[in-house]
Amino acid sequence: MHDPATINAAQPTTVNVDLGDRSYPIFIDHGLIDADLVTPFIPASRAVIVSNTTVAPLYAERLAQSLEAAGKRVELLALPDGEQYKTLETLGTIYDFLMEKQVDRKTTLIALGGGVIGDITGFAAASFLRGIPFIQIPTTLLAQVDSSVGGKTGVNHPRGKNMIGAFYQPRCVVADTGSLETLPDRELSAGLAEVIKYGLLWDEDFLAWIESHVADLRRRDPATLTEAIRQSCLIKAEIVRQDEREGGIRALLNLGHTFGHAIEAGMGYGVWLHGEAVGAGMCMAAELSRRLGLIDPDAVKRVETLVESAGLPTRAPGELSVERLRSLMDSDKKVEHGRLRLVLLGRLGQARLVDHVPEETLLETIAYTTGATP
Ligand code: NAD
Ligand code: GLY
Repeated sequence: MHDPATINAAQPTTVNVDLGDRSYPIFIDHGLIDADLVTPFIPASRAVIVSNTTVAPLYAERLAQSLEAAGKRVELLALPDGEQYKTLETLGTIYDFLMEKQVDRKTTLIALGGGVIGDITGFAAASFLRGIPFIQIPTTLLAQVDSSVGGKTGVNHPRGKNMIGAFYQPRCVVADTGSLETLPDRELSAGLAEVIKYGLLWDEDFLAWIESHVADLRRRDPATLTEAIRQSCLIKAEIVRQDEREGGIRALLNLGHTFGHAIEAGMGYGVWLHGEAVGAGMCMAAELSRRLGLIDPDAVKRVETLVESAGLPTRAPGELSVERLRSLMDSDKKVEHGRLRLVLLGRLGQARLVDHVPEETLLETIAYTTGATP
């Protein structure tokens, strides 16, 4: 595990995403926004920081100063804050700004913010002038461990989340754990859901490490956060290396997400945070795995205890009926040829895709994990 004594911005903790000539580093440590790490990844003299009205006042000036000190010309676009702005209309606002500023093919877009900013800025970079350079500076835990890595970019359609987008990899990712100091507690817990997800789906040792460090993570100890992000990014980088376009094992990253997306959509986007819905969704997936004889009751209990200790719900909201949750699960992108494919647990530390879940078992599981009656 990471030795806290080695943390410094001159030699940050680094994870590499190995994708041939599109490979890139993820730098993880405390204080990296002020360290001039991104300029070597900006091919020409211009960069546009895309952020939002919450994050820009906190970090954009510091970032711009470090870039300008390295001789770059920097412009800032601060978008409105919120998932409801992850739309084609906001994408149009980005294009308008880039046109107005006469941005050329070598200008680099820098996403400074959470997953919403990373996803929409990445898609703007993928599509403007058929592709311009792009850097991710994620400022939520969720974005640092998940959305900034792996190249999924896009916006929502009124009828579905993340329905319009592209695979487009950044030139580098800079995860400054210092930026998490201003993150609301609820958002930190939401990010922990994705950290737990990696332990559950891929690495039981990491799962045990999270169990013993969850309190340090919640009090934002920088060295512990760095280690959690490093381990999470190592797992995501390996999965993306093997399956960049989600033809196979990348789907394992959706552990808890089919249940979670149904909760998010059923409650109305923004009522439950994505990570909160994934927390409950992982408990639902664990319970279903138990009912299918894949894991034992102690393993389910372990999942629930960890999710709860991260400050996350372990059950779907009671106000959603079983029928509603079940039908919303069919709207998930993971439905193939009309067949629901679920990510379940073969054991703790190893997820697997399961195609033929008996409908009755699924309905009983939803009923048991929401408190509602079928
Ligand atoms: P978010 O981007 O909405 O950020 C959450 C909130 O925290 C926002 O209000 C934001 O302004 C604020 N914030 C961000 N950084 C802050 C900081 N350092 N201090 C204070 N406030 C800060 O939400 P998120 O959870 O980061 O990301 C969710 C989005 O990510 C969703 O749109 C989801 O679809 C997407 N996502 C994408 C992928 C992918 O692979 N591309 C993976 C997971 C999630
Ligand atoms: N967040 C899921 C993925 O990147 O594939």
